[in-house]
Amino acid sequence: MLQRNILFRSQQNQGKGAPSMSFRPQPPAPGRPNRCQLFGPGSRPSIFEKMAASEADVINLDLEDSVAPDDKSEARKCVIEAIGDVDWGQKTLSVRINALDTHFWYRDVIDLLENCSERLDQIMIPKVGCAADVYAIDALVSAVESATGRTRRIDLEAIIESAAGIAHVEEIAASSLRLKAMSLGAADFAASMGMQTTGIGGTQENYFMTREGEKYWSDPWHWAQAAIVAACRTHGVLPVDGPFGDFSDDDGFRAQALRSATLGMVGKWAIHPRQVALANEVFTPSGTAITEAREILAAMEEAQRSGSGVATYKGRLVDIASVRQAEVIVRQAELIRP
Ligand code: COA
Ligand code: MG
Repeated sequence: MLQRNILFRSQQNQGKGAPSMSFRPQPPAPGRPNRCQLFGPGSRPSIFEKMAASEADVINLDLEDSVAPDDKSEARKCVIEAIGDVDWGQKTLSVRINALDTHFWYRDVIDLLENCSERLDQIMIPKVGCAADVYAIDALVSAVESATGRTRRIDLEAIIESAAGIAHVEEIAASSLRLKAMSLGAADFAASMGMQTTGIGGTQENYFMTREGEKYWSDPWHWAQAAIVAACRTHGVLPVDGPFGDFSDDDGFRAQALRSATLGMVGKWAIHPRQVALANEVFTPSGTAITEAREILAAMEEAQRSGSGVATYKGRLVDIASVRQAEVIVRQAELIRP
C-alpha cells in the first residue's frame, strides 16, 4: 500500500513545480497557508468569534483534551453551530476529534458531518499510531459524505504524539490522499516515550551537554521533528510543529519556532492568541530572505545564459541546489501574499 500511495501521489502531483529528487518526483505539499494553527476548546463558544478574527491561517476547534468528558456532547453542538454561523473568512477550518482509544470519536465524525455546514475543511485526528488509524477515519468520513451528499471533500490532519506514531510516521504520511498536514504533539509524545519532563515543547532543563564546566542545552524534539518533516516531504504533506505550553515565554516560543522552520516545518500551533503573531513572524519569509532568494534565482539565470552551472552570489557558491532552496522561499512567500 505504501508503494502504491507514493506512486499515486506522485502521478497526481506531477508537473506542479515539485523538486524532482529521484526518478519518482517529490510531490508538492498542499498549497495552503499554514503558519499558525490556533486552538480553542469546542466547549467555549465565547472565544469562537475572536478565533475567527485572529491572524491564524488555520483554526482548530477542539473536541479532545481541552474538553472534559461530561462536556463532549455539548461541545459537539457548539462546534456544529459555529461552523455554519461564524464568518471564518479564508481560514482553513478544522475540528480536532477524540482519539481512537476513546468511544467519542465515531460520534464526533458522524454528528459533525451529518449536521455541520459545508464550511468545514478538515478533521484533525489525535494520537495516530499507524496508517490503519487514518484508514478507519477515512472510511467513516467517506461513508458519511456519500450518505449525506456533502460536496466539500473533508481533508485530514494527523497528530504524531506517541512512540507508535513516530515509529510508523512514514506509513502514516502515506496513508490517505485526504491527509494534508501532520503535527508533532509534544506533551503526549513525551508521556508515551517515557520522557522525564512535564514541559510542552521547548528547552528541557536536563537535556544538556557540558564542556569545561559550562552547560549547553540541546533540543530533545529535534529528531522527531526531522522524522516528521522527512515523512511529510516524501508524501506531499505539510509538516507542522505543535504546541508550546508556556504562553508567557515569547522568547522560548520564538526560538522553538525558528528551529522548526529551519528544519522544514511550515508552521506551529498557538494555544493562546498571543502566540499567533509570533508564529506568523517566524513562518513568513522575511523581506530580506525573499529578496536574497530572488537574487539567487536571477544570478543562476544569468550564469545559465552564459553556459555555466554555477555562479557566485555575495562571495558564496550557488548552483542548481541553491535554486531549489531559493524556490522554496519564493513559493512560501507567494502562498502567503499571492
Ligand atoms: N482563541 C481566541 N481567543 C482567546 C483564546 C483562544 N484560544 N484564549 C483566550 N482568548 C481570549 C480571551 O477570551 C480574552 O479575550 P478578552 O480580552 O476579549 O477578554 C483574551 O484572549 C485573553 O485571554 P486570557 O485571559 O489571557 O486567557 P484565558 O484565561 O481566557 O484562556 C487558555 C487561557 C490557555 C485556557 C485558553 O487560551 C485556551 O483554552 N487555549 C486553547 C487550549 C486548547 O485548545 N488546547 C488544546 C490544544 S493543546
Ligand atoms: Mg495530545
